[in-house]
Amino acid sequence: MRRMLVTGAAGFIGSNFVQFWAEHHPTDNIIGLDALTYAGNLASLEPVADNERFTFVKGDIRDGEAMHGIIKREGIDTIVHLAAESHVDRSIHGPDAFIDTNVRGTHELLKAARDVWSEDWSGGARRFHHVSTDEVYGSLAPNAPPFTEDTAYAPNSPYAASKAASDFLVRAYHHTYGLPVTTTNCSNNYGPYHLPEKLIPLTIVNALDGKQLPVYGDGLQIRDWLYVRDHCRGIERVLEKGRLGETYNLGGNSERRNIDVVKGICAHINKIFAGDEQIRERFPKCPAAVGGDTAELIAFVKDRPGHDRRYAIDPMKATLETGYGPAESFETGLLKTVRWYIANEPWWRAVMNGSYREWIDLHYSGGKREAGSGKR
Ligand code: NAD
Ligand code: DAU
Repeated sequence: MRRMLVTGAAGFIGSNFVQFWAEHHPTDNIIGLDALTYAGNLASLEPVADNERFTFVKGDIRDGEAMHGIIKREGIDTIVHLAAESHVDRSIHGPDAFIDTNVRGTHELLKAARDVWSEDWSGGARRFHHVSTDEVYGSLAPNAPPFTEDTAYAPNSPYAASKAASDFLVRAYHHTYGLPVTTTNCSNNYGPYHLPEKLIPLTIVNALDGKQLPVYGDGLQIRDWLYVRDHCRGIERVLEKGRLGETYNLGGNSERRNIDVVKGICAHINKIFAGDEQIRERFPKCPAAVGGDTAELIAFVKDRPGHDRRYAIDPMKATLETGYGPAESFETGLLKTVRWYIANEPWWRAVMNGSYREWIDLHYSGGKREAGSGKR
């Protein structure tokens, strides 16, 4: 029976992971920790709110003393570290928070785990699992092979650089102090509880409200998409089978161009609306409500500075060593995701009316992104 600390528990992946772990490991105790920044949302933890083995703690990973206290007091044996500033566009506008949380915060957490656990090293019974990203590897040429664990780090955005730095700190704490760590570098997640500042949820909620669907540059950038539940299962596999000190790449085997992702969402919405009068009445501003094509809303806007062209993951090491493999295809996962946002309107309306609104107001004028020179 584990006593697990999940940092960033009220975020997108954190809340999905807590729900996943509670379902699959009902005898484990889970402490979900989160500073509740603009990205943290307690409503995303609603499904586990009445679970007596789940406790939420508001806390900041940059507060080393508090982290030490929680790990010791709660007898934590497993840390799944997800807390971070996670949005590339925000890191371009304001990199400081990324260095502070992702680098310094991760270091405070590592120090606390090392201090508490070194009082009683129990070998394999302890684990610090660090969740990182494929963005640390930089950008791939169109025909280059996907990232493996041996690909050299070449982070291009302040966000990616801060994650790379945190990965190196985790590695160093294992190499120098013997902290029992594992790291996963995963590709773009999507699914329920995803904040509508990221491409897929932003496209869905804007489409439902009949707003512009901003596509950066020419829209031909490629990401590998991983359904969030498959990512949670991947972390579980690595916790159970991964070797200490190793890193594992987790991907979805689903490379897609951004423009095709956006068109795919529009196609799902068109089809769902065509067969459901109630949904047409609930979202009257969506073109599909009156038989139009949602893709009419697509607008090519100014590109992201330093925009990485392509990411792709080779998950073979995780597959061979841990049995990892995504269950969801991009098509099935995307349809589930569109349906989830239609069914959970109160969740995203509340998010849009909260502090996240400030970012929209600052970077979108009148709901419209600055028009760019991107071509189809
Ligand atoms: P998110 O922004 O949705 O959630 C991050 C959570 O961390 C939020 O709840 C926020 O309140 C919390 N947080 C931020 N600063 C904190 C602090 N100082 N102390 C405690 N909590 C704090 O992000 P996400 O998409 O769920 O990403 C989770 C992790 O997975 C991140 O480390 C991210 O780098 C990594 N990752 C994400 C993706 C993706 O596609 N979303 C892909 C690869 C890796
Ligand atoms: O690759 C893993 C990373 O995926 C994670 O480490 C990050 O935390 C996560 O935010 C995500 O980063 P991206 O920058 O790839 O995700 P985002 O959803 O912001 O953008 C996906 C692609 O879509 C990217 O090429 C930029 C583009 N985009 C994004 C937005 C928000 C648009 O074209 N229009 C948009 O409005």
